[in-house]
Amino acid sequence: MNERSETILSLKNQLAEALKRNRLLQEELAATNSGLLALTLELEAKNEEVQVITQQLGQVSRMATMGELAASIAHELNNPLTTVSLRVESLSAQISADDLKQRSLQIIFQEIERMSTLIKNLLDFSRRGQRQVSTVDVCRELEHTLELIYYLFRKKRITIKRAYQSELPKINADSQGLQQVFINLFTNACDAMPQGGTLTIRVFIDPIDSEYIAIEFSDTGIGIQPEALSKVMDPFFTTKLKNKGTGLGLAICRRIMQEHHGLINITSEIGKGTTVSLKLPL
Ligand SMILES: Nc1ncnc2c1ncn2[C@@H]1O[C@H](COP(=O)(O)OP(=O)(O)OP(=O)(O)O)[C@@H](O)[C@H]1O
Ligand SMILES: [Mg+2]
Repeated sequence: MNERSETILSLKNQLAEALKRNRLLQEELAATNSGLLALTLELEAKNEEVQVITQQLGQVSRMATMGELAASIAHELNNPLTTVSLRVESLSAQISADDLKQRSLQIIFQEIERMSTLIKNLLDFSRRGQRQVSTVDVCRELEHTLELIYYLFRKKRITIKRAYQSELPKINADSQGLQQVFINLFTNACDAMPQGGTLTIRVFIDPIDSEYIAIEFSDTGIGIQPEALSKVMDPFFTTKLKNKGTGLGLAICRRIMQEHHGLINITSEIGKGTTVSLKLPL
């Protein structure tokens, strides 16, 4: 082979080598490109997530501000209402008992009472973090609360049945808060059994999760419509007649249970009755 053809052969080899390297580089570039694309997609997804969380945070802070506003308005309304109520009482005392104006005064008085209840519930609902935790005997708290509203059950011909497991341990809880929950559940049960019935109260260690104490309230009342069941714990949801319910009772119960790291669950069957189950950590 002469010198010229040797040079040509060497150049050809070099060219083939360069082409091969070029192809490898292109493949590498394509791989990096698709990696980049995947990263961009991931970044976009994360971006959307951040946007959703930011929106949720905004909503939560707006809700918190609204709650505080409602609480301060409710608080400020208390004083003028008390004044009006005292004035009505004094007016009523100044006129004779059979005066026709007494009826109007009575209506004003009832309406003031209704506003007071609403304000009290609003304040209870927005009050948080003021709980006083101590060791509490759940059954004793139940009995204590029952004593407070026993007249209501008697008037409505409602029988109370108790099934308390023996030797239950005490729990760390705010007794006032627990009583508030029980009162709300008792009054709801009463309202659900206008013709009388039975309220069964069970207290036991949760057989599935022995870290919890379970408290169940089963009534034989009217029950809850399936479509309403998911809404009953929403603030202001009520099926009761005007003047009767504010729709805050169960919302307050849920709030208090959350503060105790507990759970509240409701099952119901129309015409058969409702069971409210509470779970509190031991
Ligand atoms: N034990 C029950 N049986 C049937 N329905 C119930 C029972 N408990 C609650 N409910 C339904 O859930 C709704 C909401 O209850 P919640 O206690 O929050 O408000 P309320 O009783 O209507 O008013 P409030 O408690 O503020 O006076 C009630 O209006 C009722 O329709
Ligand atoms: Mg209620």
